[in-house]
Amino acid sequence: MRALVTGAAGFIGSHLGERLLAHGCDVRGVDNFSPYYDRVQKEANLAVLAGDQPPSSVNGSLLTTAERTPSGSRAASGSASFEFVERDLRTDPLDELTEGVDVVFHLAGQPGVRLSWADGFDQYDSNNILATQRLLEAFRDRSIDRFVLASSSSLYGDAERYPTLETDLPRPRSPYGVTKLAAEYLCRTYADNWSVPSVILRYFTVYGPRQRPDMAFNRLIAAGLGGPPFPLYGDGDQVREFTFVGDIVEATIAAGEAPIDEVPAGEVFNASGGSSVRLRDAIELAGDLLEREIALDRQPVAPGDALRTGGSIEKAQRLLRWKPSVDLAEGMAAQIAWQRAAATG
Ligand SMILES: NC(=O)c1ccc[n+]([C@@H]2O[C@H](COP(=O)([O-])OP(=O)(O)OC[C@H]3O[C@@H](n4cnc5c(N)ncnc54)[C@H](O)[C@@H]3O)[C@@H](O)[C@H]2O)c1
Repeated sequence: MRALVTGAAGFIGSHLGERLLAHGCDVRGVDNFSPYYDRVQKEANLAVLAGDQPPSSVNGSLLTTAERTPSGSRAASGSASFEFVERDLRTDPLDELTEGVDVVFHLAGQPGVRLSWADGFDQYDSNNILATQRLLEAFRDRSIDRFVLASSSSLYGDAERYPTLETDLPRPRSPYGVTKLAAEYLCRTYADNWSVPSVILRYFTVYGPRQRPDMAFNRLIAAGLGGPPFPLYGDGDQVREFTFVGDIVEATIAAGEAPIDEVPAGEVFNASGGSSVRLRDAIELAGDLLEREIALDRQPVAPGDALRTGGSIEKAQRLLRWKPSVDLAEGMAAQIAWQRAAATG
């Protein structure tokens, strides 16, 4: 199988690419190294995929010893090959990316809620909506097995109930959530009109090694390791369903492999991690694991932040045969190990 992974240099995309290669899939990665965070971190993520570095805790690999190749070389892992193409999905020609592809994993996008207001919206509009439309258009007349979209729990906003079902009314609280909802509808539109075999995963707050530097756990752990105090928006009573990146990768691959007679084009699934906790409890856990108190920088509630997220995974369990397996303490310990190793070089 040949997979196209968009956003391959990013946090989740790099783990997905690594896991697909370990499964023996050929991977074509694409990314434009968007300036949202440091290119150096994205290049380090890619180096593992390219086989330039053996997987290790320094670069945040989740692969077990048995899954690693002796030299880190991709050629050594059987027939699986990796190629990387630097392209901007908004503007560059995309035809050559489609060549020989069986499954598309579309993870490229502009993440994060807080910058999606005011002038920042341009980036969300173009990277989440236009880029998705152009990619769907490029695959419209190609015969592919699956087109998986990385969507977000952000589109639920303050949901009508918890755990939230995929059929509950989306009421995004942020422009980011609106762009993800639009991307979902594009996938459905191309499924209905052109039979593009899309499947949509709504990721719930993903954490683990290689997490983006703007995300809460990264900042929390950085604070505990001696960095700037953790910016706490509101009183810490927000509840989040945190999902470990290894579990998200397994859900994403399960979606990519789902037979079309069991999971028709356009289906939506929650990918939520089973660790539903208050932010203040997560702060305490980080302090316990790091054996130090985390300094806080108290800030007002940020516009766009939902009070609570929590998704039902009944549908994903039933149709994708997926459920998360890593609990918060275990997953946070893995992220701490990665950040500690990265901080000490
Ligand atoms: N991390 C989470 O908790 C979370 C939760 C819900 C949804 N998501 C979604 O999952 C996806 C991956 O998130 P992540 O946390 O790994 O983010 P990330 O920023 O680490 O990865 C996204 C990658 O996409 C690339 N990219 C952006 N615009 C592009 C373009 N126009 N052309 C080519 N490449 C482009 C970026 O350079 C980046 O490397 C995103 O679509 C995000 O919205 C993430």
